[in-house]
Amino acid sequence: MWKGRFAKETAELVQQIGESVSYDWRLYQHDIAGSIAHARAQYKAGLLTEEEFSQIESGLREIEADINAGNFEFRTSLEDIHMNIEAELTRRIGPAGAKLHTARSRNDQVATDTRLYCRAEMEVLAAGIRDLQRALLDRAEKYAATVVPAYTHLQRGQPVTVGHHFLAYVEMLERDLGRLTDARTRVNVSPLGSGALAGSTINLDRHGIAKELGFDRVSTNSMDAVADRDYIAELIFVIGLCGVHLSRLSEDLILWTSAEFGFAALSDAHTTGSSLMPQKKNPDVCELTRGKTGRLLGNLVAILTAIKGLPLTYNRDLQEDKEPLFDSIDTLKLTLAVNAEMIAAMEIREERCRAAASDPMLLATDLADWLVRQGVPFRHAHELVGKAVAASVATGTPLDQLDLATIDPAFTSDATSVFSLETALAARTNPGAPSIENVRSEIARWNTGLSSN
Ligand code: ARG
Repeated sequence: MWKGRFAKETAELVQQIGESVSYDWRLYQHDIAGSIAHARAQYKAGLLTEEEFSQIESGLREIEADINAGNFEFRTSLEDIHMNIEAELTRRIGPAGAKLHTARSRNDQVATDTRLYCRAEMEVLAAGIRDLQRALLDRAEKYAATVVPAYTHLQRGQPVTVGHHFLAYVEMLERDLGRLTDARTRVNVSPLGSGALAGSTINLDRHGIAKELGFDRVSTNSMDAVADRDYIAELIFVIGLCGVHLSRLSEDLILWTSAEFGFAALSDAHTTGSSLMPQKKNPDVCELTRGKTGRLLGNLVAILTAIKGLPLTYNRDLQEDKEPLFDSIDTLKLTLAVNAEMIAAMEIREERCRAAASDPMLLATDLADWLVRQGVPFRHAHELVGKAVAASVATGTPLDQLDLATIDPAFTSDATSVFSLETALAARTNPGAPSIENVRSEIARWNTGLSSN
């Protein structure tokens, strides 16, 4: 492609380090769509005859069909997907093919292709997030009223319901989806026409090209357009944060499926056994989800580091944007799908949840609130209940069976009325709190929201 200036062939090792077609081949559909839009603009500008344009268009469509069918030989000597397709087009149709690269550089071309690719994959990711939300919502609905302890510091805190717990993850995923939608506005911008870095002396209709490719607008600075990889870093971040959410969910499920907790049971189809210990049923999907999140975060560090030292504009370092991008997208798609399937089939062991939640210590705060309602200042109430807890621990008497009046006369006989999980949950009616009624109305809200898109 640059033979005019060079007397020697590119060295074998340089081809090895420089080739990207072994992974960027997957941009082919977008590369072809971009080339067709570019060629159409050339035709409209009088740079191609109708005949030449139609040769280019059908030539590219045939190449696309061959790649789809697995009948295309990618050559690393041609470096990347862009040159593989262009060289093959020229081989097939002759001189018209050699006109395609007029007023274009691989710099604006690769930016166009990756933006189209990101845009398409973002839709797939959004659908994957929705599917996982639906699976969580389904479990939340089934176990809306199942009482379970909620934890801080992994120490039992207060009672909630399993429905409330799973809805917390539906919320996180909704924010991930919001970030994806927001990032799309910065992805969906056409760099075509920015050329190598300073546009071109040949003016093609940038807006027409952008419209054909479904871009919302055209980039407004040619140097920025070819140097910018923010949209890739941003997408990798959004994916990374979603991975972090899935990793936390995994950690909850790893705990919940342990013998110590015993709150949840995963299907045999989503767990593995041990080659040595016959009794084992391991939550590998959760562990792999948690483990793969490390890769997602590594990819974010990789892309940010690749960009940080670069002077304007394009530098070859930017070719390193693709592997982390592809890996993050592939990884999140798979983890979303397998988690959705696993959660849809997960059973909750309601009796175990309730037994754990029946620890009266979980209602110590409610006891303090009861004192507050009798007019005791909260700090003092906290101290009195603290004394009751200490007495319970010291004597081995459950908190709800202590003679509380011996601790302080403020505890009248009515105080023990707080030791009812039903009453405790029913009192938590403020927005966002886990009364069963609240949880059910949140489920109804999500059901409406998730069924419409
Ligand atoms: N394969 C290259 C990349 O991914 C395409 C752009 C190459 N541009 C260049 N001037 N060498 O970044």
